[in-house]
Amino acid sequence: MTAKELLKKYQGKLEPAELDQILALAMHKKIEYLYKNPEKKLSVSTVKTFKKLFLLRLANWPLAYLKGDKEFCGLKFKVNKNTLVPRPESELIVAEALKYITRLDSRSTRQENNHQIIDIGCGSGALILSLAKLSKKKANYIALDISAKTLGIAKTNARKLGLKKIKFIKSDLLKNVLPIKFDLVLANLPYLNPKQLKEPSIKKEPRLALLSGQDGLDHYRQLFVQVPKYLNKEYLLLLEINPEQKEAIEKIITANLPDGKIKFLKDLTGHLRVVKISN
Ligand SMILES: C[S@@+](CC[C@H](N)C(=O)[O-])C[C@H]1O[C@@H](n2cnc3c(N)ncnc32)[C@H](O)[C@@H]1O
Repeated sequence: MTAKELLKKYQGKLEPAELDQILALAMHKKIEYLYKNPEKKLSVSTVKTFKKLFLLRLANWPLAYLKGDKEFCGLKFKVNKNTLVPRPESELIVAEALKYITRLDSRSTRQENNHQIIDIGCGSGALILSLAKLSKKKANYIALDISAKTLGIAKTNARKLGLKKIKFIKSDLLKNVLPIKFDLVLANLPYLNPKQLKEPSIKKEPRLALLSGQDGLDHYRQLFVQVPKYLNKEYLLLLEINPEQKEAIEKIITANLPDGKIKFLKDLTGHLRVVKISN
């Protein structure tokens, strides 16, 4: 059977682009190879692998788990069932953080590598490692997660990206963090409620990365009790939220950081996704 024939046989149940990716994966080739060679005869073992991957994808295993990696901010991140698959909308946090670091450096009289930056709930490390890699500025970068397995993946990603100086902390929010004053805090913590968790497309991703109490805000409620004493005189907090949480998160922030200026940023699809809090 040729690649084209196989794709025709399986069309309908998955998006055509996904089928192409699964076949390229089964062939151990880049997608471009598949596009250039639609008449390529497939071996029995390639067809068998394709069928296996197809069924896994139908059962909602993310393509990124099948591939073992995901591109984020133009960089490649290893992912598996212990890490959330980084989403393109989260790149907005990195873009804002990069702008802030640049401004911080131009104003600061301190040694640039004294800047303290933390990512709370780092998962694969997508946010903090992209920032460290793309900013090229020296700073103290801390990647924190409650899961040791997740941190293991983040450490692998740091090594693969050639980032040697990232500090990794296993902690429930800021419980195990010494009272450092942070200039920049990033957090894409779990923010879904039990109903939202039923969405089939996220079924195979870790519950620990997604669910946060009855209204999806337990993590941010706890974080805002802890975070004020960790903030430098000038700070920026960048959080990812669900668009429906705008009013609720505003209340949580103002209750704990009454002087904080709050701004909401829209993601690529026009939804409020990132909260920017500064003083
Ligand atoms: C939504 S995922 C975000 C992962 C990554 N930052 C990203 O943007 O792709 C949330 C992460 O928070 C971690 N997490 C959950 N509860 C936590 C807690 N109490 N303290 C620290 N990390 C937590 C999860 O293990 C998961 O890696």
